[in-house]
Amino acid sequence: MPGPRVLLVVTGSIAAYKACEVVRRLQDRGVEVRVAMTRNAGEFVSPLTFAALSGHRVLVSSFDDERPERIPHVRWAEESDAFCVVPASADFIAKMALGIADDFSSTLHLAFAGPVLVAPAMEDQMWRHPAVRENVDKLSARGVVIVQPTAGPLASGRHGLGRLAEPPDVVDAIMEVLVTEPIERSLAGMRVLVSAGPTHEHFDPVRVLTNPSTGKMGYAVARAAARLGADVILVSGPTQIVEPAGVEIVRVVNAEEMRREMVDHTAAADIVVMAAAVSDFRPVAPVSEKLQKSAADAMSWEVERTPDILEELRRLGGRRTLVGFAAETSDLEARAREKLDRKGCDLMVANLVEAGVTGFEVDTNEVVILDRLGGRVPAGPAPKSDIAFTIIDAILGFRQRLGVASREKAG
Ligand code: CTP
Repeated sequence: MPGPRVLLVVTGSIAAYKACEVVRRLQDRGVEVRVAMTRNAGEFVSPLTFAALSGHRVLVSSFDDERPERIPHVRWAEESDAFCVVPASADFIAKMALGIADDFSSTLHLAFAGPVLVAPAMEDQMWRHPAVRENVDKLSARGVVIVQPTAGPLASGRHGLGRLAEPPDVVDAIMEVLVTEPIERSLAGMRVLVSAGPTHEHFDPVRVLTNPSTGKMGYAVARAAARLGADVILVSGPTQIVEPAGVEIVRVVNAEEMRREMVDHTAAADIVVMAAAVSDFRPVAPVSEKLQKSAADAMSWEVERTPDILEELRRLGGRRTLVGFAAETSDLEARAREKLDRKGCDLMVANLVEAGVTGFEVDTNEVVILDRLGGRVPAGPAPKSDIAFTIIDAILGFRQRLGVASREKAG
């Protein structure tokens, strides 16, 4: 079966070069990409670059087409499954909102009848401008998926909100748009509580004890659960990830705050997934003023264990399914089984951490999902967004087997 086809419109922004990575990553996921560019985009990246990457001619003007027998915007629109603008300038967003069609890309927009996604990139004052806000709201109300920009250094050198979302996040959002077949809402009516990201345990206002977790795996689980119809609350440590749509996010900084929020929300949850990489230690006596390093050449700090959130959630009892994560550097399955028993959870998602390959700070993962009925599901290497669906399948499989086992016991 041929893969899905995406029309990628690149508009004039310094972030245009990131669209090259988006093309590559979409191809890695089996997507065929065709690129159209605005004239301004061509000032940042040459059409030739996208032609070489996509293996297709790149159109900037309708009159560039080598097959003029069929109107190119109509043909391209008919042959594509999604229309995605990456990066989307304020100007192009305004054209889309108003239905202006004064170049090939904007005409293509009007000729296209399927799902549309927009990943904006601009200076923060522009992103905040009421005109841009109104245009973005208009597109959202029309069902256009907006991949929210992130905060960071901007083209002007200023720091602010308006950076194009990272290419892997844009690609995940496009992949979601492409899943057009009605997906089974296997979590409809269920409440899922997920924790994600690292925790920051402060020594002083500018120094923290933490770990390299990015939160990607937990966010992917939250996003997948929401897609499958669950009501999802995501308790997130400090991360730089695009917030998933349709998920309630509770932001926390340290282990104690995460513990409090998880305990508060657990009673109402059917499934709790503890994907956060909670810092195991915290300074015993953090200080509220910045420490001056000139005060000493060496320092030692006393640290203490943070509360074990998973164990506390288990002690709350109830019939909910409790899922832990175990990142190990060796003896993966034996250690994860031991952790599953010790922490008393129902499932344990175990992954081997190999620097730069799987685990922290990368977009792929390879896991083994173990459960307390002896179940074992290996998954990956695969994008974290795919692994998330396998984890949810494993949780539902476990709940089903548990139901059967307890009915057999009762009968
Ligand atoms: N966890 C938690 N609270 C902590 C530490 C960990 O709830 N203070 C959870 C994690 O979210 C994860 C699971 O416990 O779901 C396993 O975390 P991990 O750090 O691998 O296990 P530890 O019990 O801390 O054991 P060790 O670090 O010795 O391997």
